[in-house]
Amino acid sequence: MKLPVLLAAAAAIQAPLVQQSLTRLVEVDGQVRRWMSEADKRKVTDTPNLGSFAHLRSAAKPTYPALNHSHVIRPVLDTLSTQHPKENLKEFTSFTTRYYQSETGRQSQQWLLSRISNITAEYSSETVKDKITITQFKHPWGQHSIIARINGSSTTDDAIIIIGAHQDSTNRIPALPSPGADDDASGTVTILETYRALIAADFSPVRPVEFHWYAGEEGGLLGSAAVAQAYEVEGANVYAMLQLDMTAWVKNGTREEIGVFTDAVDPSLTEFNKKLVDAYVDLPWVETTYPGRACSDHFSWTQAGYPSSSYFEGAFENVNRNVHSINDRWDISPEFSFEHMLEFSKLGVAFAVELAGWTQA
Ligand SMILES: *[C@@H]1O[C@H](CO)[C@@H](O)[C@H](O)[C@H]1NC(C)=O
Ligand SMILES: *[C@@H]1O[C@H](CO)[C@@H](O)[C@H](O)[C@H]1NC(C)=O
Ligand SMILES: *[C@@H]1O[C@H](CO)[C@@H](O)[C@H](O)[C@H]1NC(C)=O
Ligand SMILES: *[C@@H]1O[C@H](CO)[C@@H](O)[C@H](O)[C@H]1NC(C)=O
Repeated sequence: MKLPVLLAAAAAIQAPLVQQSLTRLVEVDGQVRRWMSEADKRKVTDTPNLGSFAHLRSAAKPTYPALNHSHVIRPVLDTLSTQHPKENLKEFTSFTTRYYQSETGRQSQQWLLSRISNITAEYSSETVKDKITITQFKHPWGQHSIIARINGSSTTDDAIIIIGAHQDSTNRIPALPSPGADDDASGTVTILETYRALIAADFSPVRPVEFHWYAGEEGGLLGSAAVAQAYEVEGANVYAMLQLDMTAWVKNGTREEIGVFTDAVDPSLTEFNKKLVDAYVDLPWVETTYPGRACSDHFSWTQAGYPSSSYFEGAFENVNRNVHSINDRWDISPEFSFEHMLEFSKLGVAFAVELAGWTQA
C-alpha cells in the first residue's frame, strides 16, 4: 500500500513516540504489499476460545432458498436514498478519531446509539416498534458494540439473520485523526439506511433480523469476536451473517461493481449473495479475495462456525488506498460515491427479506 508522501514523513518522525508498535510492510501471499500494524496482524491470527462448538454446527449447514420476495422487496428499495447516509456519514466522520480505545471513540459510539434510537422512534410504526430491541454489547475498553434486533413472528424458527459493519476507525499513526469515511463509516451508514427503510416499511420478519455495529474491529476484530463468542456460548442459531466493511469507493477509470469476498466465508451463502446482486442491483458482481484471511468481522462468525459472507466496494485491487490515514474522507474525491453505497443498502434489504421472510408476503 502506497503511503502519501506527507504521511510517510510523519510516520518516520513520530514512529519512536507512539506506544502502539507501528507499521511494517508485509507481503501476503506474494500479492500485495500492505502496511500492517500489530492490530492488523492480530486479525490474521485466531481468536482464542472462539469456535469451540464450531464442529457441531458444521455438520448441519443451512441451505439457502430460491429468491421469491421481489414483490415486497422492490417497494422498499424505492424508499432508499442517499440523503440519510450523507447526513449520518458527515456527522459520524466529524469525530477526530473513532479509535476504540479513545475518548472520541467512546463518544462516537454514544452518538451512533443515539442516532439509531432516534431513527427507530421516528420511522417505525407501533407494530414494528414493539418488536425492536436496541442494546449495547458492553466491552471493557469503553466503546461498545450496538445491536438492533427486530424479532421474528415465528415461534418455532429462531434462526437469526445478522447484517454487520464496524463503527471504529484507525490511523496507522495513532496520534493523527482518522475520519474513516470509507473504513467503515460507509458500512455503518449503509446498514443504518437498510434498517431505516425496513422499519419504515413496517417489516414483519418471520425470523429475527439483527443489525450489528461492532466496536474495536481495527484492534483485531475485538467487538465481533466477543459478540460471536457470546452467541456461541448461548447456543444461538445464526442462519446467515453479512458484513459490509467499505462500500463507497469506485476507483477512477474502473468499472463500478460489487465485490464478493470468497475467502473466510461460507460458500453457499456467498453463492446466494451473488444471486441477490443479479436480481436486485444493476451492477455486476466480481469475486475477490483479501490478502490474508481476516479482512473483517465476518471472520469472527466464520471462526465461531456460523455461515458468514461479505460484500466489498469492488475488486480488492481497486480498494480505496486512503484507508487508515487522514485522507479517508468523503469530500476529497468523486471516487467516494454515495450512489455506490446505496447499492449495498439495497443488497442489505434483499438479504434481510429473502432470508428472514415477511409475514405479510
Ligand atoms: C419462498 O420459498 C421458501 C422456501 O424456499 C418458502 O418456504 C416460502 O413460503 C416462499 N415464500 C413465498 C412468498 O413464496
Ligand atoms: C436524538 O434526539 C434527541 C432529542 O431530539 C437529540 O437531542 C439528539 O441530539 C439526537 N441524537 C442524534 C445523534 O441525532
Ligand atoms: C424478542 O424475542 C426475544 C426472544 O424470544 C425475547 O426475549 C424478547 O423479549 C423479544 N423482544 C421484544 C422487543 O419483543
Ligand atoms: C479520472 O481519470 C481521468 C482520465 O484519466 C482524469 O482526467 C481525471 O482527472 C481523473 N479524476 C480523478 C478524480 O482522479
